[in-house]
Amino acid sequence: MIPAGDTVEVVVQTMSVAADDVLMLELRRAGGGTLPTFAAGAHVDLHLPGGIVRSYSLLNPMDAGTCYRLAVHRHPSSRGGSRCVHESLRVGQHLLAGVPRNEFELDECASLSILVAGGIGITPLWSMAQRLESLGRAWELHYAARTRGKAALLSEVEAFASASRHGRMQFHATREAGGRRIDLVSIVALAPAGAHLYCCGPAEMVDAFVEAACDRPRSEIHVERFESAAPVDTAGAFTVHLVRSGRSMPVPAGRTLLAVLVESGIAVPHSCEQGICGSCEVPVIDGQPDHRDSVLTDREKQANRTMLVCCSRAKSASLTLDL
Ligand code: FES
Repeated sequence: MIPAGDTVEVVVQTMSVAADDVLMLELRRAGGGTLPTFAAGAHVDLHLPGGIVRSYSLLNPMDAGTCYRLAVHRHPSSRGGSRCVHESLRVGQHLLAGVPRNEFELDECASLSILVAGGIGITPLWSMAQRLESLGRAWELHYAARTRGKAALLSEVEAFASASRHGRMQFHATREAGGRRIDLVSIVALAPAGAHLYCCGPAEMVDAFVEAACDRPRSEIHVERFESAAPVDTAGAFTVHLVRSGRSMPVPAGRTLLAVLVESGIAVPHSCEQGICGSCEVPVIDGQPDHRDSVLTDREKQANRTMLVCCSRAKSASLTLDL
């Protein structure tokens, strides 16, 4: 058993083109053996050369520890992660991968699961569709991308859906001739009571989905973001106290709490630095955090037991963390 927060050494087994600007990777445990298991919707932190850590959703539905499959979109404004994968990663290369975490869990008991994907947001939803099919649960997938050529895994997903006994899919090519924007309002309005709805895609799509679903029970709406809606706000200064190391340090306006901690030599796992992956969650002992992430639930934010230090700050003059 590998403890949470630990890593496992993996080797890049295969790399293939999954769409324009999208590479698919298959990772196996270096030296053989099994990998930590995971469930549909999970992601792993990949430790790339140059100290870059990025989170990627797993494509396989659920796995007994044989491999991790993931797809990496080359982002035009890459901060280094996707550029590194596309330009320098090679088959046979060894990397560290974090233990899979799941902030986007599938409710496997729902009468119907409606999956809405935008672009590379297909990755966790593809995992869910496969899992639901294997369980014999009803599902429908709405997949939007600019063109068919830019839609990762499209042929694989279409072939799976056409052979499916429990699900169906609709693809929306929004920038092709005759293409239309995905109608999120109608998708949500037509969902029967008791259906669970999931969305992963660009920030504006997820925001529109949340808005369209605002009257439905919160427990039946699930979203995951792969980009933040807004840059991290670093206004306001406070002091952070660390109980384990017995240190205190100022967090000035213009600096993130994570940056201050890392510069002070405090090891804090992190990846997206946008409040969307959950890897920098830290226990709070005292003080009132100003939660600005998209990971914690409203209830978790009210409880103030943890915070995500890459983007959240303090409402109180100081915070005491279990670090
Ligand atoms: S590093 Fe991803 S949520 Fe903080």
